[in-house]
Amino acid sequence: MASVFLDVYRRSLERPEDFWAEAAEDIDWFEKWDRVLDDSKPPFFRWFAGGRVNTCYNAVDRHVASGRGEQLALVWDSPVAATKATLTYRELQSEVAVLAGALRDLGVVLGDRVLVYMPNIPETAIAMLACARIGAVHSVVFGGFASSELAARIDDARPKVVLAASCGLEPNRVVEYKPLLDGAIEIAEHTPETCVVLQRPQCPARLELERDVDWMDLVAGASPAECVPLAATDPLYILYTSGTTGIPKGVVRDNGGHMVALHWSMKNVYGMAPGEVFWAASDVGWVVGHSYIVYAPLLYGCTSVMFEGKPVGTPDASAYWRVISEQRVRVLFTAPTAFRAIKRDDPTAQLKRGYDLSAFRTLFLAGERADPDTLEWAEDILGVPVIDHWWQTETGWPMAANCLGIESLPVKHGSPTRAVPGYDVVVLDEHGREVAPDETGAICVRLPLPPGTLPTLWNNDQGYVDTYLSRYPGFYETSDAGFCDEDGYLWIMSRTDDIINVAGHRLSTGGMEEVLASHPDVAECAVIGVADDLKGQVPLGLAVLKAGVDRKGEEIAGELVQLVRERIGPVASFKQAAVVKRLPKTRSGKVLRGTMRSIADSQEYRVPPTIDDPLVLDEIKEALQGLGYAS
Ligand code: COA
Ligand code: AMP
Repeated sequence: MASVFLDVYRRSLERPEDFWAEAAEDIDWFEKWDRVLDDSKPPFFRWFAGGRVNTCYNAVDRHVASGRGEQLALVWDSPVAATKATLTYRELQSEVAVLAGALRDLGVVLGDRVLVYMPNIPETAIAMLACARIGAVHSVVFGGFASSELAARIDDARPKVVLAASCGLEPNRVVEYKPLLDGAIEIAEHTPETCVVLQRPQCPARLELERDVDWMDLVAGASPAECVPLAATDPLYILYTSGTTGIPKGVVRDNGGHMVALHWSMKNVYGMAPGEVFWAASDVGWVVGHSYIVYAPLLYGCTSVMFEGKPVGTPDASAYWRVISEQRVRVLFTAPTAFRAIKRDDPTAQLKRGYDLSAFRTLFLAGERADPDTLEWAEDILGVPVIDHWWQTETGWPMAANCLGIESLPVKHGSPTRAVPGYDVVVLDEHGREVAPDETGAICVRLPLPPGTLPTLWNNDQGYVDTYLSRYPGFYETSDAGFCDEDGYLWIMSRTDDIINVAGHRLSTGGMEEVLASHPDVAECAVIGVADDLKGQVPLGLAVLKAGVDRKGEEIAGELVQLVRERIGPVASFKQAAVVKRLPKTRSGKVLRGTMRSIADSQEYRVPPTIDDPLVLDEIKEALQGLGYAS
């Protein structure tokens, strides 16, 4: 098949250095690189080694210098705070420079970590860019996590300074961040020197500790800082993501390769032009927010919409249509869950009437599998292309997509189309051999990964190798399973580890099991992800009690739900648990989580021949029925 896309794709794999050097011309460098790809220490690869660059300069200052100063850089729309705000590139530059100066006054220097514990408000983007300006490494923590998760991140990143907001706003409650932060610092071994708190009017925090500083007081006395030239390979940020245990993994992102890849993706994947409006309806605490609320749109000179609200309930299922029409959004990027929620509340999209969506060009979906029903519904009501695309925190930008800026390929519902240029995606069997088309296997990417992807884990090179590179030498293991069809389209079907995707949020069931196991009455437990019409998957816990515990199962189940909320956070959506007599196991003692999941989802299942006692499955079925599953 002759195709513009295939030509670009082949060139990206055959001549990666030329391909990415060309893309790098769109970035302003203080000094050009010595080598496009430094492959001297495999399996560690570095892009644009020797180059000197600054991400904040490229995302902000250069646009002011080239005449975009009066263009809107950020539009903030918060139905939960009943507020909207805008920042031009010039205004953004001045705010970022002053906060960077304030951080410098606090003693933050190149390489220091700054933890950002803030919701979807413009100051969070300002905080990230201020760090980038002076070479501090930011680590943003999502507001829906509990203190102990925050503490784990504080101990790993060891931040000199924390930038926090006094609260986040959920539709049904105000989430006070300051007590969560103080609680985390109490648990953590590392203590940050300063906590800078942005007081939100909805719930100002009490600043009584010596380390607490009011954000406004701090910036009032600061003078602007200039952009510092950094090595292209210096870290820009650390973003923690769920691994197979309760210990989060610190994904590192560099400066040079990250900018080159994100800038390239705005045109080639999303089909955007500078000056247009891009909206990623996600949270800055997730990778989608890092890449496509903050960095990519700004690097590309677009206007980025930041939304503090939900697709439904703030106030209703018209929220997205209102924002698209008011801001003349060209491209919206969100998770399929958001569209499932809108469809549930307004199945015939009556609420869309009256909104002018004429500027709207494309909807992109990612973060979880896009079920064909939802995708078709979105196509019907919007009348524009709906593009499923696939990526993960580790890669930072799409691995598979329909690259509209190169060539629009035919859509197959349920597939995120083909591997994106730069990614040599293969499907391997358990022996590491490539499987035939349509055969399922482990989805991997041949090394080296393209620019913008993780060079390593924070302070943990060995963990990077062990987690991603050891199982299939020469390849990066995505931990997704699926297949590639005869036309080269990828189909992402499931995870190969214990990660579940709840409303597009990535969570570890292993981490939840660790919490359940810490309950004094629990002998053993299992957490499985069960199908959910709205959130795609939700976790469900089953616990066996220690011998001699004589308490009501429902009471303990309630405590387990509460414990996960306290230790991991509300975002886990862990609301269902049951006490059972036994867990189904193989004769060698492996808990049969997959079989339990099939029972819960009312799917056909085969009783594994290695099962220790098949009767346990009946007991489990009964318990699951009690929770409304296994019909
Ligand atoms: N800070 C504090 N708490 C948060 C939070 C945050 N930033 N984000 C979510 N939570 C809480 C919610 O309040 C909720 O708590 P509750 O159990 O007390 O109600 C819980 O975490 C689960 O939140 P969420 O997954 O958002 O579910 P929801 O029931 O509140 O809303 C949807 C359902 C579908 C509207 C919502 O999941 C949604 O908008 N999904 C879109 C997907 C998305 O943006 N994914 C991001 C990755 S691209
Ligand atoms: P996260 O790191 O939070 O972005 O989650 C990444 C994981 O979400 C991937 O490894 C997949 O399991 C899943 N995922 C993301 N996008 C898609 C998609 N388009 N289709 C199927 N699964 C997806």
